[in-house]
Amino acid sequence: MAKKFNNHWTYKILAAFFGVIIITGAIHVLAMNLSLATAFERHIGRMGGGIQGMMGGFRGSSLYQSLMSAVNESMLVSAIIAFFIAGIAALVISQRITKPVKSLTKASQKIARGDYSYRISEKEIPSDELGQLAVCFNQMAKELESIEGMRRRLIGDISHELRTPLTAIKGSMEGLIDGVLPSNQSTFQQIYREADRLQRLVEDLQELSRVDSGTFTLNKKPVDIEEVLKIATAPFTSSFKKKGVSLESQLDQDLPKISVDADRIQQVLQNLLGNALRFTPTKGHVIISIRKESSKVIFSIGDDGVGIEKEHLSHIFERFYQADKSRSRANGGGSGIGLSIAKSLVEAHGGEIHAESVGKGKGSTFSFTIPA
Ligand SMILES: Nc1ncnc2c1ncn2[C@@H]1O[C@H](COP(=O)(O)OP(=O)(O)OP(=O)(O)O)[C@@H](O)[C@H]1O
Ligand SMILES: [Mg+2]
Repeated sequence: MAKKFNNHWTYKILAAFFGVIIITGAIHVLAMNLSLATAFERHIGRMGGGIQGMMGGFRGSSLYQSLMSAVNESMLVSAIIAFFIAGIAALVISQRITKPVKSLTKASQKIARGDYSYRISEKEIPSDELGQLAVCFNQMAKELESIEGMRRRLIGDISHELRTPLTAIKGSMEGLIDGVLPSNQSTFQQIYREADRLQRLVEDLQELSRVDSGTFTLNKKPVDIEEVLKIATAPFTSSFKKKGVSLESQLDQDLPKISVDADRIQQVLQNLLGNALRFTPTKGHVIISIRKESSKVIFSIGDDGVGIEKEHLSHIFERFYQADKSRSRANGGGSGIGLSIAKSLVEAHGGEIHAESVGKGKGSTFSFTIPA
């Protein structure tokens, strides 16, 4: 009984209502008895000694007795009606509370079992505080569903990316074993390239997970922008020359020192430079420009290479997204992780990164900001 009482709102509300009725009724009866006696005596007193004499003293009078019993009877009737109304009110109120709570319980059980698409229907959402809770719950479920989707896609993407070079390595090895492929420099180089890609992919994934989980620490120090750029571009000069792509820098005069983790900013610059080189054909141009605008320094890397179509532009910062996988592969490309890492690193510094391109074949410009 006590368990049932504790487990249901209807009983709790009913008990609260009944309690209020009983206490109010008791106070009412007490007050009536006290005030009625004095009021009756005062009234009779005002009517004169004659009537008192007629009645033989009011305390024992039948008029007072019958008045009291009439009052008590009416109190009893109103108490019974009040109990009845309280019962109905408790039922209605508890229904209003428990219905959305039951929907929430059902929804949370579904989500706990992995059904992330389950939502509390609009019809079941009231406009009160419980309704707000249900709306928040639906938003949480939506977020969980998108995170779960991302997790599934990520596993799919990673396994696909790992499978490609592994299949190539296995195929080449089989060819060598069967004697179909010649065991010469070119075959070994082909296998080495795939193994190298595999290694880079694993390293990039490791880096991405570090950056994403925020387990890396930024070693921020005031640095000279020109110095950072020099270190970032140094490893690229020969590759640019070899491919016949010019690399130019345009820096504002009096650039301030910025407080950054120099290694990380160099990593961002190198990701963008690597892409610019990969996606710009021979005789192309890549221009790095750095300028200060109000409270930030803007780094831009522009090229006149293959460009990015509008439909791809909004996705290229997503993990594993490549506008043209085959072109990327043909140009010694990776797996579409570079820009995701660059974005996380820039955002960790409190900056923003974005890409612009007029369209295919019209070049692209990647810009990122760092608070000055
Ligand atoms: N400068 C650019 N010009 C044209 N397309 C670009 C340029 N930079 C990036 N992209 C497009 O954005 C995609 C994602 O770039 P991202 O750097 O993330 O991956 P990736 O270079 O293909 O591989 P990874 O960086 O992992 O080696 C590229 O595959 C390409 O389609
Ligand atoms: Mg890249």
